[in-house]
Amino acid sequence: MKVARLGVITGAFAALCVLSACGQGGSDTAAPPEAPEATTEAAAPAEAAPEAGPAEAAAPAVGAIVLAVTDAAGNAMSGDPARGARIFRQCATCHATDAGVNNVGPSLHGLFGRTAGTVPNFRYSQANQSSGIVWSDAELFRYLEAPQRVVPGTNMAFNGLRDPQQRADVIAYLKQFSE
Ligand code: HEC
Repeated sequence: MKVARLGVITGAFAALCVLSACGQGGSDTAAPPEAPEATTEAAAPAEAAPEAGPAEAAAPAVGAIVLAVTDAAGNAMSGDPARGARIFRQCATCHATDAGVNNVGPSLHGLFGRTAGTVPNFRYSQANQSSGIVWSDAELFRYLEAPQRVVPGTNMAFNGLRDPQQRADVIAYLKQFSE
């Protein structure tokens, strides 16, 4: 819970940074309208702002992010880290997102690109260790729907998230804890 909130706070903080960066950019672009022949010149900075502002580029990280996962119709799915933080409360009874913190389940810090069953000092089931999974958006998406079906004999006592969007949101949330 605390960790989930922290994530949200960090996200909010990032949003504030984005906003303040936006403010700086805004004061730069606000200058031209004061120039005598502002009418035509003012249009240019306004158009330039979206591509010029780093704030614009950073914005999607605060909202939904596109995942390497396709839905049933074959379209790329997006996940919302903020919604994912709320869904993660179900996971947080067993998992922390801090590095090196193992509870009932292993730490989920740095999950992406990691081979299943390799967090140090955590006693995995044989089933998990020999699954051969390398955690990616797509593997997590498949696993979280029905962990016991994907890794028969796993110790993870969690039925799964049937809703594809909830899985995408949790994946987007977990990405914040992977470099
Ligand atoms: C009741 C406790 C519990 C809950 C709830 C739970 N897990 Fe787990 N999870 C575990 C355990 C225990 C393992 C180790 C499984 C094994 O060794 O077979 C695990 C393993 C994992 C792994 C594999 C990690 C690795 O290093 O191979 C991932 C990924 C994972 N859980 C994600 C989640 C997510 C996301 C949620 C919430 C949607 C969740 N878990 C909910 C207990 C839980």
